[in-house]
Amino acid sequence: MIEGDGIGVEISEAVKDIYKAAKVPIDWELADVTPIFVDGKTSIPPEAIESINKNKVALKGPLATPVGKGHVSLNLTLRRTFNLFANVRPCKSVVGFQTPYEDVDTVLIRENTEGEYSGIEHVVVPGVVQSIKLITRAASERVARYAFEYARSIGKKKVLVVHKATVMKYGDGLFLESAQKIAKEFPDIEIHTELIDRTCLNMVTNPAPYKEYVMVMPNLYGDIMSDLSSGLIGGLGLTPSGNMGDEVSIFEAVHGSAPDIAGKGLANPTALLLSSVMMLRHMGLNDEAARIEKAVLDTIASGKENITRDLKGTASTKHFTEQVISRL
Ligand code: IPM
Ligand code: MN
Repeated sequence: MIEGDGIGVEISEAVKDIYKAAKVPIDWELADVTPIFVDGKTSIPPEAIESINKNKVALKGPLATPVGKGHVSLNLTLRRTFNLFANVRPCKSVVGFQTPYEDVDTVLIRENTEGEYSGIEHVVVPGVVQSIKLITRAASERVARYAFEYARSIGKKKVLVVHKATVMKYGDGLFLESAQKIAKEFPDIEIHTELIDRTCLNMVTNPAPYKEYVMVMPNLYGDIMSDLSSGLIGGLGLTPSGNMGDEVSIFEAVHGSAPDIAGKGLANPTALLLSSVMMLRHMGLNDEAARIEKAVLDTIASGKENITRDLKGTASTKHFTEQVISRL
């Protein structure tokens, strides 16, 4: 467990309490990822790397990211260090929090190692900067294959490649072409494609049809589209994610460290809890996953006094946690 910054400590505490009550067979090992700097680059301390490599799975709270010229985001450093190439972000309407959308049930898979996140930027002359969007065939095929396999594993019959190859002819062109090549390995699954701006328009107009697909897209599009999707169901307090690699996987809430409410006992632990449920399923602990998921969703559906303020409720983190435990 990486508890994280800000509200990270409180929401990690909630997970630990609920897991204890549910008798989940997990001994948490805490990993401290306070960055160290090696040759001027942000690095994860070797003890934390060792712990994560040994355990193969980690549950991670939010880590604050400085804007502009500070150290490189630790969130990204973790993804890079462990080569977590696919970021799986499901988003499903919850009963108990009303939004204008009723029937959201999407899965978005974000390429997680390159694109605009390659970190290759330089000043050409003062006032002119180049930020490189790096796209490789290897990473594009790898994430496409992951998306098709994932679709198959959850019984979806369609993969939607979201792109802007009309403009980014080489970069998104290669991403698209790679997915089309991989699609041939999966004759049981249809490949569909859509321009990112159109997907955004459709999603905020009528997201329901997207439940038929697993969506896959380059890194920055996935970052933005996953926030957009969260917004449809009630915000980042509700959406989990998994950063998947060949060896190691790190499950994390999509939201940030919320310094404005940190330490006040107000944070919503749902996103981290649902991320931990993804982790349990990844570990094959399906019964525990189902029990905890149900208890969390039943709590949210049970009334304003039991849900946190981000969902227009009145509950503290502690009260919410107790309510989940009482429903296990
Ligand atoms: C996310 C976050 C990160 C990202 C930040 C914290 C670097 O927004 O996981 O979506 O941009 O990927
Ligand atoms: Mn984001």
